[in-house]
Amino acid sequence: MTRVAVYPGSFDPVTKGHEDLIRRSLAFADQVIVAVAMNPGKPPLFTLEERVALLQEAVRDRAVSVRSFDGLLVEFARSVGAALIVRGLRAVSDFEYEFQMALMNRTLAPRLETVFLMPAFDLTYLSSSLVREVARFGGDVSALVHPAVQEALRKKFAR
Ligand code: PNS
Repeated sequence: MTRVAVYPGSFDPVTKGHEDLIRRSLAFADQVIVAVAMNPGKPPLFTLEERVALLQEAVRDRAVSVRSFDGLLVEFARSVGAALIVRGLRAVSDFEYEFQMALMNRTLAPRLETVFLMPAFDLTYLSSSLVREVARFGGDVSALVHPAVQEALRKKFAR
């Protein structure tokens, strides 16, 4: 039996924290589907196509695929035969939102389990929004993102 995990998010853009969690997920999943949400709450910096392409560039592993989805996450998970949803928990501040989301997803799809993973210690305070802010003001994000993402940020803010 192939154990499929879905790792959903906005990935605007993918960071080394996300890459770390994808790698960790492969310890218990045979296949990880990174699911890029079409409609994050706020207008994204990168288009859906750009976010998918940057993930494909940053994560090259035969056991990992990148897809976009619209609508409910549980419906997407069902459509790809996933048994698990993977989410990262960085600090206590993440907990409330993640807990609400996990319980709502469980209400909608009782057999789908949410698994929380802790990122590597040095990536704990990393987030896409911080990366965007640092890059917007010309700061060095080379330690935080894949080189392709760094270049995409440079181009985005050069305009
Ligand atoms: O990286 P993010 O922005 O924290 O990811 C949030 C995401 C995309 C995982 C979440 O908003 C989501 O699952 N959206 C899809 C719509 C949905 O299923 N909403 C109900 C979840 S309680």
